[in-house]
Amino acid sequence: IKKVGVLTSGGDSPGMNAAIRSVVRTCAYHNIECIGIYRGYQGMIEGDFKEMGPRSVNNIVNKGGTILKSARSSEFKTAEGRHKAHENLLKAGVDALVVIGGDGTFTGALLFNKEFDFPIMGIPGTIDNDIFGTSHTLGYDTALNTVVEVIDKIRDTASSHNRLFFVEVMGRDAGHIALNAGIGAGAEEILIPEEDLGLERLLESLQKSKASGKSSSIVVIAEGDKIGKNVFELKDYVEANLPEYDVRVSVLGHMQRGGSPSCFDRVLASRLGVKAVESLIDGKSNFMVGLQNDAVSLTPLEQAIKGKTMIDRELLRVSDIMST
Ligand code: F6P
Repeated sequence: IKKVGVLTSGGDSPGMNAAIRSVVRTCAYHNIECIGIYRGYQGMIEGDFKEMGPRSVNNIVNKGGTILKSARSSEFKTAEGRHKAHENLLKAGVDALVVIGGDGTFTGALLFNKEFDFPIMGIPGTIDNDIFGTSHTLGYDTALNTVVEVIDKIRDTASSHNRLFFVEVMGRDAGHIALNAGIGAGAEEILIPEEDLGLERLLESLQKSKASGKSSSIVVIAEGDKIGKNVFELKDYVEANLPEYDVRVSVLGHMQRGGSPSCFDRVLASRLGVKAVESLIDGKSNFMVGLQNDAVSLTPLEQAIKGKTMIDRELLRVSDIMST
Protein backbone atom coordinates (compact mmCIF):
# COMPACT_ATOMS: atom_id res chain seq x y z
CA ILE A 1 0.00 0.00 0.00
CA LYS A 2 1.09 3.55 -0.73
CA LYS A 3 -1.44 5.87 0.83
CA VAL A 4 -3.73 5.32 3.82
CA GLY A 5 -6.86 7.36 4.50
CA VAL A 6 -7.96 7.72 8.11
CA LEU A 7 -11.35 8.88 9.36
CA THR A 8 -13.47 9.05 12.50
CA SER A 9 -17.18 8.38 12.24
CA GLY A 10 -20.25 8.07 14.47
CA GLY A 11 -20.30 9.32 18.07
CA ASP A 12 -16.91 10.73 19.02
CA SER A 13 -14.99 9.32 21.97
CA PRO A 14 -11.91 10.32 23.96
CA GLY A 15 -8.87 8.61 22.47
CA MET A 16 -9.88 9.08 18.84
CA ASN A 17 -7.22 11.78 18.44
CA ALA A 18 -4.59 9.53 19.95
CA ALA A 19 -5.63 6.86 17.43
CA ILE A 20 -5.40 9.30 14.50
CA ARG A 21 -1.94 10.28 15.71
CA SER A 22 -0.92 6.65 15.91
CA VAL A 23 -2.18 5.85 12.40
CA VAL A 24 -0.46 8.93 10.91
CA ARG A 25 2.85 8.28 12.65
CA THR A 26 2.86 4.55 11.92
CA CYS A 27 2.36 5.41 8.24
CA ALA A 28 5.27 7.88 8.41
CA TYR A 29 7.43 5.29 10.19
CA HIS A 30 6.85 2.86 7.31
CA ASN A 31 7.20 5.54 4.61
CA ILE A 32 3.57 5.38 3.61
CA GLU A 33 1.61 8.52 2.83
CA CYS A 34 -1.43 9.36 4.92
CA ILE A 35 -4.43 11.59 4.41
CA GLY A 36 -7.04 12.62 6.94
CA ILE A 37 -10.65 12.44 5.83
CA TYR A 38 -12.90 15.01 7.53
CA ARG A 39 -16.39 14.26 8.90
CA GLY A 40 -16.23 10.51 8.42
CA TYR A 41 -17.87 9.01 5.35
CA GLN A 42 -19.50 12.35 4.50
CA GLY A 43 -16.06 13.88 3.94
CA MET A 44 -15.15 10.90 1.76
CA ILE A 45 -18.18 11.64 -0.43
CA GLU A 46 -17.28 15.33 -0.60
CA GLY A 47 -13.53 14.81 -1.07
CA ASP A 48 -12.77 16.70 2.14
CA PHE A 49 -9.20 15.43 2.53
CA LYS A 50 -5.97 16.71 4.06
CA GLU A 51 -2.44 15.37 3.70
CA MET A 52 -1.10 14.42 7.11
CA GLY A 53 2.44 13.93 8.32
CA PRO A 54 3.89 13.23 11.75
CA ARG A 55 3.88 16.98 12.57
CA SER A 56 0.18 17.42 11.77
CA VAL A 57 -0.69 15.36 14.82
CA ASN A 58 1.46 17.21 17.37
CA ASN A 59 -0.19 17.94 20.72
CA ILE A 60 -3.35 15.90 20.20
CA VAL A 61 -2.59 12.75 22.21
CA ASN A 62 -4.19 14.45 25.22
CA LYS A 63 -7.18 16.01 23.44
CA GLY A 64 -10.77 14.81 23.59
CA GLY A 65 -13.02 14.81 20.53
CA THR A 66 -11.57 14.29 17.07
CA ILE A 67 -9.55 16.77 15.02
CA LEU A 68 -10.94 15.10 11.89
CA LYS A 69 -14.52 15.77 13.09
CA SER A 70 -17.18 13.11 12.96
CA ALA A 71 -20.56 12.59 11.32
CA ARG A 72 -23.23 9.98 10.77
CA SER A 73 -23.60 10.08 6.98
CA SER A 74 -26.93 9.03 5.54
CA GLU A 75 -25.62 9.59 2.00
CA PHE A 76 -23.02 6.86 2.51
CA LYS A 77 -25.93 4.44 3.01
CA THR A 78 -26.78 4.89 -0.69
CA ALA A 79 -24.88 3.13 -3.51
CA GLU A 80 -24.48 6.50 -5.22
CA GLY A 81 -22.85 8.05 -2.16
CA ARG A 82 -20.43 5.16 -1.80
CA HIS A 83 -19.59 5.37 -5.52
CA LYS A 84 -18.72 9.07 -5.17
CA ALA A 85 -16.58 8.29 -2.14
CA HIS A 86 -14.71 5.59 -4.03
CA GLU A 87 -14.04 7.93 -6.95
CA ASN A 88 -12.60 10.52 -4.57
CA LEU A 89 -10.30 7.99 -2.94
CA LEU A 90 -9.00 6.86 -6.34
CA LYS A 91 -8.44 10.46 -7.41
CA ALA A 92 -6.46 11.14 -4.24
CA GLY A 93 -4.43 7.94 -4.67
CA VAL A 94 -5.69 6.42 -1.42
CA ASP A 95 -5.43 2.64 -1.54
CA ALA A 96 -6.35 1.62 2.02
CA LEU A 97 -8.51 2.92 4.85
CA VAL A 98 -8.47 2.95 8.63
CA VAL A 99 -11.91 3.75 10.05
CA ILE A 100 -12.32 4.65 13.72
CA GLY A 101 -15.82 4.32 15.14
CA GLY A 102 -18.55 1.97 16.27
CA ASP A 103 -20.77 -0.65 14.64
CA GLY A 104 -22.39 1.84 12.22
CA THR A 105 -18.92 2.79 11.01
CA PHE A 106 -17.95 -0.85 10.57
CA THR A 107 -21.18 -1.68 8.73
CA GLY A 108 -20.39 1.07 6.21
CA ALA A 109 -16.80 -0.16 5.92
CA LEU A 110 -17.85 -3.70 5.18
CA LEU A 111 -20.29 -2.62 2.48
CA PHE A 112 -17.65 -0.41 0.89
CA ASN A 113 -15.13 -3.22 0.93
CA LYS A 114 -17.58 -5.67 -0.65
CA GLU A 115 -18.46 -3.26 -3.45
CA PHE A 116 -14.98 -2.01 -4.32
CA ASP A 117 -12.65 -4.62 -2.81
CA PHE A 118 -11.04 -1.77 -0.88
CA PRO A 119 -8.61 -2.71 1.95
CA ILE A 120 -10.02 -1.53 5.30
CA MET A 121 -9.16 -1.92 8.98
CA GLY A 122 -11.40 -0.80 11.82
CA ILE A 123 -10.48 0.64 15.21
CA PRO A 124 -13.28 0.48 17.82
CA GLY A 125 -14.07 3.96 19.13
CA THR A 126 -17.18 4.49 21.23
CA ILE A 127 -17.74 5.15 24.90
CA ASP A 128 -20.46 2.45 25.03
CA ASN A 129 -17.99 -0.49 24.89
CA ASP A 130 -20.56 -2.42 22.88
CA ILE A 131 -18.30 -3.84 20.18
CA PHE A 132 -17.64 -7.56 20.00
CA GLY A 133 -13.99 -8.63 19.76
CA THR A 134 -12.44 -6.18 22.19
CA SER A 135 -12.56 -5.91 25.95
CA HIS A 136 -12.29 -2.12 25.65
CA THR A 137 -13.35 0.37 23.00
CA LEU A 138 -11.56 3.73 22.79
CA GLY A 139 -13.11 6.22 25.17
CA TYR A 140 -14.84 3.73 27.43
CA ASP A 141 -12.25 3.94 30.21
CA THR A 142 -12.24 7.75 30.08
CA ALA A 143 -16.05 7.84 30.18
CA LEU A 144 -16.06 5.56 33.23
CA ASN A 145 -13.67 7.89 35.04
CA THR A 146 -15.75 10.92 34.07
CA VAL A 147 -18.96 9.31 35.31
CA VAL A 148 -17.41 8.20 38.60
CA GLU A 149 -16.02 11.67 39.20
CA VAL A 150 -19.41 13.27 38.61
CA ILE A 151 -21.33 10.77 40.73
CA ASP A 152 -18.86 11.40 43.56
CA LYS A 153 -19.97 15.03 43.44
CA ILE A 154 -23.64 14.08 43.29
CA ARG A 155 -23.07 11.87 46.32
CA ASP A 156 -21.95 14.93 48.33
CA THR A 157 -25.20 16.75 47.76
CA ALA A 158 -27.33 13.59 47.98
CA SER A 159 -25.88 12.89 51.37
CA SER A 160 -26.27 16.48 52.64
CA HIS A 161 -29.98 16.44 51.79
CA ASN A 162 -30.76 12.78 52.51
CA ARG A 163 -31.89 12.34 48.94
CA LEU A 164 -32.18 9.58 46.42
CA PHE A 165 -30.63 10.38 43.02
CA PHE A 166 -31.35 8.68 39.74
CA VAL A 167 -28.31 9.26 37.56
CA GLU A 168 -28.78 8.43 33.88
CA VAL A 169 -25.61 7.53 32.01
CA MET A 170 -25.02 6.86 28.30
CA GLY A 171 -25.22 3.44 26.70
CA ARG A 172 -27.74 3.26 23.89
CA ASP A 173 -28.08 -0.52 23.97
CA ALA A 174 -25.49 -1.55 26.53
CA GLY A 175 -25.06 -1.30 30.27
CA HIS A 176 -21.26 -1.42 30.47
CA ILE A 177 -20.86 2.20 31.57
CA ALA A 178 -23.72 1.96 34.06
CA LEU A 179 -22.55 -1.31 35.58
CA ASN A 180 -18.89 -0.48 35.97
CA ALA A 181 -19.22 3.19 36.89
CA GLY A 182 -22.12 2.22 39.17
CA ILE A 183 -19.94 -0.16 41.14
CA GLY A 184 -17.05 2.31 41.11
CA ALA A 185 -19.28 5.08 42.45
CA GLY A 186 -21.00 2.88 45.02
CA ALA A 187 -24.51 2.86 43.51
CA GLU A 188 -27.34 1.31 45.48
CA GLU A 189 -28.90 -0.17 42.34
CA ILE A 190 -27.82 -0.31 38.70
CA LEU A 191 -30.40 -0.56 35.93
CA ILE A 192 -29.11 -1.88 32.60
CA PRO A 193 -30.73 -3.12 29.38
CA GLU A 194 -29.17 -6.58 29.72
CA GLU A 195 -30.98 -7.31 32.99
CA ASP A 196 -34.57 -6.41 33.82
CA LEU A 197 -34.55 -5.71 37.54
CA GLY A 198 -38.29 -4.95 37.55
CA LEU A 199 -40.07 -2.10 39.26
CA GLU A 200 -41.19 -4.19 42.24
CA ARG A 201 -37.66 -5.29 43.06
CA LEU A 202 -36.41 -1.74 42.74
CA LEU A 203 -38.97 -0.56 45.31
CA GLU A 204 -38.15 -3.45 47.61
CA SER A 205 -34.46 -2.74 47.37
CA LEU A 206 -34.94 0.96 48.13
CA GLN A 207 -37.16 0.12 51.08
CA LYS A 208 -34.59 -2.29 52.41
CA SER A 209 -31.83 0.26 52.07
CA LYS A 210 -33.82 2.87 54.00
CA ALA A 211 -34.61 0.31 56.71
CA SER A 212 -30.93 -0.60 56.99
CA GLY A 213 -30.12 2.96 58.00
CA LYS A 214 -28.98 4.53 54.74
CA SER A 215 -30.08 8.13 54.44
CA SER A 216 -29.14 8.80 50.82
CA SER A 217 -28.75 6.66 47.74
CA ILE A 218 -27.58 6.73 44.15
CA VAL A 219 -29.30 4.62 41.49
CA VAL A 220 -27.46 4.49 38.17
CA ILE A 221 -29.57 3.88 35.09
CA ALA A 222 -28.30 3.23 31.56
CA GLU A 223 -30.13 5.25 28.92
CA GLY A 224 -30.96 2.00 27.10
CA ASP A 225 -32.47 0.38 30.19
CA LYS A 226 -35.72 -1.46 29.57
CA ILE A 227 -37.46 -1.08 32.93
CA GLY A 228 -40.33 0.53 31.01
CA LYS A 229 -40.11 4.03 32.40
CA ASN A 230 -37.74 6.84 31.58
CA VAL A 231 -35.69 8.29 34.40
CA PHE A 232 -38.20 11.11 35.13
CA GLU A 233 -41.16 8.69 35.18
CA LEU A 234 -39.12 6.50 37.46
CA LYS A 235 -38.67 9.40 39.88
CA ASP A 236 -42.46 10.01 39.94
CA TYR A 237 -43.13 6.31 40.38
CA VAL A 238 -40.74 5.94 43.29
CA GLU A 239 -41.98 9.12 45.00
CA ALA A 240 -45.58 7.93 44.62
CA ASN A 241 -44.82 4.51 46.09
CA LEU A 242 -42.17 5.43 48.64
CA PRO A 243 -43.13 8.89 49.95
CA GLU A 244 -40.28 8.71 52.46
CA TYR A 245 -37.90 9.36 49.57
CA ASP A 246 -37.03 12.82 48.22
CA VAL A 247 -35.86 12.05 44.68
CA ARG A 248 -33.79 14.02 42.19
CA VAL A 249 -32.70 13.17 38.65
CA SER A 250 -29.42 13.90 36.93
CA VAL A 251 -28.98 13.05 33.24
CA LEU A 252 -25.25 13.20 32.54
CA GLY A 253 -25.56 13.34 28.73
CA HIS A 254 -22.83 14.32 26.31
CA MET A 255 -20.32 15.47 28.91
CA GLN A 256 -19.54 11.74 29.13
CA ARG A 257 -18.17 11.86 25.59
CA GLY A 258 -15.75 14.71 26.20
CA GLY A 259 -12.55 15.36 28.07
CA SER A 260 -8.93 14.42 27.93
CA PRO A 261 -8.47 10.67 27.38
CA SER A 262 -7.22 8.54 30.27
CA CYS A 263 -3.75 7.04 30.07
CA PHE A 264 -5.38 3.67 29.37
CA ASP A 265 -7.22 5.06 26.33
CA ARG A 266 -4.10 6.80 25.01
CA VAL A 267 -2.03 3.64 25.24
CA LEU A 268 -4.83 1.56 23.72
CA ALA A 269 -5.23 4.04 20.85
CA SER A 270 -1.49 4.00 20.17
CA ARG A 271 -1.37 0.20 20.14
CA LEU A 272 -4.44 -0.20 17.93
CA GLY A 273 -3.28 2.42 15.41
CA VAL A 274 0.06 0.65 14.95
CA LYS A 275 -1.65 -2.72 14.52
CA ALA A 276 -4.20 -1.34 12.05
CA VAL A 277 -1.59 0.15 9.71
CA GLU A 278 0.83 -2.77 10.00
CA SER A 279 -2.01 -5.22 9.25
CA LEU A 280 -2.78 -3.30 6.06
CA ILE A 281 0.91 -3.46 5.14
CA ASP A 282 0.73 -7.23 5.72
CA GLY A 283 -2.06 -7.41 3.15
CA LYS A 284 -4.88 -7.92 5.67
CA SER A 285 -8.28 -6.33 5.25
CA ASN A 286 -11.75 -6.36 6.82
CA PHE A 287 -10.61 -6.78 10.38
CA MET A 288 -11.11 -4.79 13.53
CA VAL A 289 -8.12 -4.38 15.79
CA GLY A 290 -9.00 -4.80 19.44
CA LEU A 291 -7.77 -5.84 22.84
CA GLN A 292 -8.31 -9.38 24.10
CA ASN A 293 -6.66 -10.67 27.28
CA ASP A 294 -4.49 -7.56 27.17
CA ALA A 295 -3.06 -8.46 23.76
CA VAL A 296 -3.85 -6.68 20.52
CA SER A 297 -6.01 -8.92 18.35
CA LEU A 298 -7.80 -9.03 15.01
CA THR A 299 -11.51 -9.82 14.66
CA PRO A 300 -13.26 -10.04 11.27
CA LEU A 301 -15.35 -6.88 10.85
CA GLU A 302 -18.41 -9.02 10.18
CA GLN A 303 -18.07 -10.68 13.60
CA ALA A 304 -17.36 -7.38 15.32
CA ILE A 305 -20.69 -6.07 13.99
CA LYS A 306 -22.81 -9.16 14.52
CA GLY A 307 -21.33 -10.49 17.76
CA LYS A 308 -23.03 -9.53 20.99
CA THR A 309 -21.00 -8.14 23.86
CA MET A 310 -21.87 -9.68 27.20
CA ILE A 311 -21.93 -8.00 30.54
CA ASP A 312 -19.98 -9.70 33.29
CA ARG A 313 -22.74 -11.19 35.45
CA GLU A 314 -20.36 -11.50 38.37
CA LEU A 315 -20.36 -7.70 38.47
CA LEU A 316 -24.12 -7.73 39.10
CA ARG A 317 -23.54 -10.00 42.10
CA VAL A 318 -20.71 -7.79 43.35
CA SER A 319 -22.95 -4.75 43.04
CA ASP A 320 -25.68 -6.54 44.98
CA ILE A 321 -23.31 -7.47 47.79
CA MET A 322 -21.84 -3.95 47.90
CA SER A 323 -25.26 -2.45 48.48
CA THR A 324 -25.77 -4.49 51.66
O1 F6P B 1 -22.77 5.54 20.87
C1 F6P B 1 -22.32 6.51 21.72
C2 F6P B 1 -23.47 7.35 22.24
O2 F6P B 1 -22.91 8.35 23.07
C3 F6P B 1 -24.58 6.60 22.95
O3 F6P B 1 -24.26 6.30 24.30
C4 F6P B 1 -25.73 7.57 22.82
O4 F6P B 1 -26.95 6.89 22.89
C5 F6P B 1 -25.50 8.17 21.46
O5 F6P B 1 -24.13 8.01 21.17
C6 F6P B 1 -25.90 9.62 21.35
O6 F6P B 1 -25.76 10.01 20.03
P1 F6P B 1 -25.78 11.55 19.53
O7 F6P B 1 -24.48 12.17 19.95
O8 F6P B 1 -25.93 11.45 18.08
O9 F6P B 1 -26.93 12.18 20.23
